[in-house]
Amino acid sequence: MSTVATDSAAATARLEASGVTVRFGGLVALDCVDLAVPPGAMVGLVGPNGAGKSTLFAVLSGLLKPNAGRVRMGGADVTRASPMERARRGLARTFQRPELFSDLTVREHVVLADRVRHRGGRILRDLVTGGGFRRPGADEDERVDAVLEALHLEDLRDRQVSGLPLGASRLVEIARALATGPEVLLLDEPSSGLDGRETEELAATLARLNADRGVSLLLVEHDVEMVLGMCGTVYVLDFGAMIRSGPPEEIRSDPAVRAAYLGTEQPSSPSATPDTAPDEESR
Ligand SMILES: Nc1ncnc2c1ncn2[C@@H]1O[C@H](COP(=O)(O)OP(=O)(O)OP(=O)(O)O)[C@@H](O)[C@H]1O
Ligand SMILES: [Mg+2]
Repeated sequence: MSTVATDSAAATARLEASGVTVRFGGLVALDCVDLAVPPGAMVGLVGPNGAGKSTLFAVLSGLLKPNAGRVRMGGADVTRASPMERARRGLARTFQRPELFSDLTVREHVVLADRVRHRGGRILRDLVTGGGFRRPGADEDERVDAVLEALHLEDLRDRQVSGLPLGASRLVEIARALATGPEVLLLDEPSSGLDGRETEELAATLARLNADRGVSLLLVEHDVEMVLGMCGTVYVLDFGAMIRSGPPEEIRSDPAVRAAYLGTEQPSSPSATPDTAPDEESR
């Protein structure tokens, strides 16, 4: 893998897309898109249904190779790198629908992720030597407990995930991602399916993870108000084009952003926000 650092932004951003283009047949899902997630930042990515948000996540996490453009982590070019290689470099993500093992407990999910991080290739050797069945060290317990605590999952630690409500399942997914020790965490619509109170709790939890652990967050959300409330920089995609990026106060009042969400009809109140995205209605 080559290492290319062409400018200072590329050298400092934990994760950066530049000029990313993705075509599905005749459809241009992403058109020369730029985005940067600096160290310790909380960055939001919003846009109407089908704008290209999940496609950009797939490119950033290595599941999809772009037709053009580059992805960098800490300045290193990872455009051709596998999802595993990006994970090793500190990238973790969650999916729109939680992908969990229904028979495992909450704690077992976190233990698995922690062992992948700390035992890596030795996990396979443990399977034949029996090493994996030995009592784990106190340091493992400590790390796992810290992650469970960070997400307020202590009381659910021994519950099988199959019986958990959606909100708790989302937290388990985030806990598992966190246990891999990421520097940057991509979250695809973490508030989807949560009620107002659960969404507020999730926002507070994410802000704490960012403040306490210095994890950079890239948040794709249909809940625009949540993103505007917690992210320092917000990017807006529309039909595959990055139409705006900036601080929430600029995004909130931007006519092009409102038009993207609300069509040509403008809200009467200047403080009104595009919180009724078309994709919300279709969920
Ligand atoms: N594998 C694929 N093959 C063909 N077209 C695709 C594929 N994946 C996505 N698309 C199309 O690319 C466009 C962008 O889709 P994407 O899922 O990235 O949007 P999104 O912003 O995540 O939407 P949503 O808010 O509904 O999750 C859409 O028109 C979608 O139909
Ligand atoms: Mg999507």
